[in-house]
Amino acid sequence: MAKQQSSTIPHLLAASELTKEQIQGLLKTAKLFSTRLKGNQTLPLLKGKTVVNLFFENSTRTRTSFEIAVRRLEGGTLNFASTTSSVQKGETLIDTAKNIQAMGPHCIVVRHSSAGSPVTLSKALNLPIINAGDGFHEHPTQGLLDAFTIQEKLGEVAGKRVMILGDIAHSRVARSNIHILRKLGATVVVCGPPSLLPPHPEALQVEHCYRPESILPQADVVIALRIQLERQNSMQIPSLAEYSKIWGLSRERASLLKKGAIILHPGPINRGIEIDPDVADDEPRSVILDQVHNGILVRMAVLAEICNPDGLTHWMNQEGTSHAS
Ligand code: CP
Repeated sequence: MAKQQSSTIPHLLAASELTKEQIQGLLKTAKLFSTRLKGNQTLPLLKGKTVVNLFFENSTRTRTSFEIAVRRLEGGTLNFASTTSSVQKGETLIDTAKNIQAMGPHCIVVRHSSAGSPVTLSKALNLPIINAGDGFHEHPTQGLLDAFTIQEKLGEVAGKRVMILGDIAHSRVARSNIHILRKLGATVVVCGPPSLLPPHPEALQVEHCYRPESILPQADVVIALRIQLERQNSMQIPSLAEYSKIWGLSRERASLLKKGAIILHPGPINRGIEIDPDVADDEPRSVILDQVHNGILVRMAVLAEICNPDGLTHWMNQEGTSHAS
């Protein structure tokens, strides 16, 4: 029997660990799924495999799209919700995960409020671990799907000026986006109140500003972020009304964007705070629901690459394309 090849991406713990080539490879696979699979056509790359969604925090988009991605690859999913589990009786993260592992799944997708918990699990278990968001650290599949959406709408990421607007300091989405977009050749500018910017933006190799008006006319992409109140020990802005007035993506501010610029938001949206409802719904300039759709394709690519790299290579060869980027 042919030996199963190990993936070049054994886990997906952080975008910071991905090379440019690995990012391009995952985006290429997602693109191929979008062009070669018609409608909800499935592909048996996870047939016989079970993926557990181990979520200790709430989620609408990430958990649902991982579940749909597994089904599109003909695998089985099991959704674990900490609120109805024995975590409520004091069981630890590692004990919970080891007990899940004992039931024989092939991969764990984890979301947890503690930064670094996916790394901890990757060391404690013998299973591939995919980070679906860990505290304010990273959300790598969100970064990948945002890059995929930018590529889809603007042709390429390289050379684009991407403004991330809002609560950067507490945002795992911002961190993953910065790593991925920079590796793909974009210039990233973070903008928000000084209390919500990282203490040393230059360490992340991004530009920064405190008011959006000067950068909006130059931006190809604006990624608006929610204020992450759940990760702030105390409110770090005077009020949401004041935040909205100065930093919210209002209709007036959005009118400063050049023709062809696109607006992203990872969701969930707090309408009327970080983004005006009319701006959020202003398709095709607003690509927020395209991001959600693309999340399935990108997560299919990540799952196939991690759980069945041989099968993925075989399918790509059949489709007349190579696995390498
Ligand atoms: N973007 C995102 O992570 O959304 P959910 O919290 O709904 O998964």
